[in-house]
Amino acid sequence: MFRAEIAGTGSYLPEKILTNFDLEKQLDTSDEWIRTRTGIVERRIAGKEESSSVLAAHAARKALESAKIKAEELDIIILCTSTPDVLFPSTACFVQKEIGATHSAAFDISAVCSGFVYGLSIAEQYIKSGRYRHVLVIGSEVNSRIVDWTDRSTCILFGDGAGAVVMTRKETTEPCGLLSSHIYSDGNLSSLIEVPKAIGRAEVSTENGNPEKFCIKMSGNATFKVAVKRMTEVCLEALEYNGLCREDVDLVVPHQANKRIIDAVIKRLQIPFEKVFINIHKYGNTSAASIPIAIDEAKRAGRIQPGCRMLIMVVGAGLTWGAAVIRW
Ligand code: COA
Repeated sequence: MFRAEIAGTGSYLPEKILTNFDLEKQLDTSDEWIRTRTGIVERRIAGKEESSSVLAAHAARKALESAKIKAEELDIIILCTSTPDVLFPSTACFVQKEIGATHSAAFDISAVCSGFVYGLSIAEQYIKSGRYRHVLVIGSEVNSRIVDWTDRSTCILFGDGAGAVVMTRKETTEPCGLLSSHIYSDGNLSSLIEVPKAIGRAEVSTENGNPEKFCIKMSGNATFKVAVKRMTEVCLEALEYNGLCREDVDLVVPHQANKRIIDAVIKRLQIPFEKVFINIHKYGNTSAASIPIAIDEAKRAGRIQPGCRMLIMVVGAGLTWGAAVIRW
């Protein structure tokens, strides 16, 4: 029986830090408001030369190194992003070239913040079917290029970054690796969060903010409510599917969109807060990069030990949402 194991993780965050105090200087907002409403303290902003492919390649190299797998051994690169470098070719192809993955197929998927869980789900199918051995799944975003820096209700939330995992086939009857993934969409809710038109390169930004059509528009309050409901439902489904109860979960790695959303879901799931990995205070919402960055940090911090049962959960524009259970 083929299992899909996570063999390595990596992440990359741009150097530039934008704090809440920096935002206070340019917007009618305060550190106190942002911190208490969202849990965010600072976020990273990509440099002029840093597009999604650049961030992704850094994260990918680290993931390959930790998996001890060469780029040439990769069968597929799945890049999850809603801020591609250009409309085409896919940003995944730029990453493929950059890391020298000479034998892989490469493509992008767009499920916004849910992208990484969608990407894992695709990788799972290729690996469990026996078709491929090594799949690189990356989440990479330059959200700073598509936020309206004059809109205080959205620009405070987002940041840039990339995270990656290498998934590898293992033949065993032991339940390990990605046990299951559960993904959903509801296009009726597409107007909750949207960018009417966007390209993720620096030149679309202006000194005073991005042109309106390139910006994230969001109904924050309505998104908050539906996010809590959908993520709670899908987590319960994922646990039930695997015959697990809440006590069996060792670590929850949630999408880092808003600390209050995470708290509300965890409260409903009745999982102790100590079991939840949080890094939103450092990076804000890095969209598809959020979960792989958090997994990599949790791993490097020693929070993921062999046998650890991890629940990941996400919600994003679309509306899209999902969860997955991983046994390390
Ligand atoms: N600083 C200060 N005040 C702000 C502000 C800011 N950055 N942003 C909004 N406000 C104000 C609003 O203008 C409003 O003022 P009013 O009462 O005078 O009209 C007040 O704060 C409350 O706004 P509201 O939108 O009701 O706040 P909220 O508690 O819902 O928090 C969000 C706003 C955006 C933080 C919250 O709705 C949220 O995080 N939603 C989910 C968004 C998300 O995560 N999306 C991505 C999902 S992947």
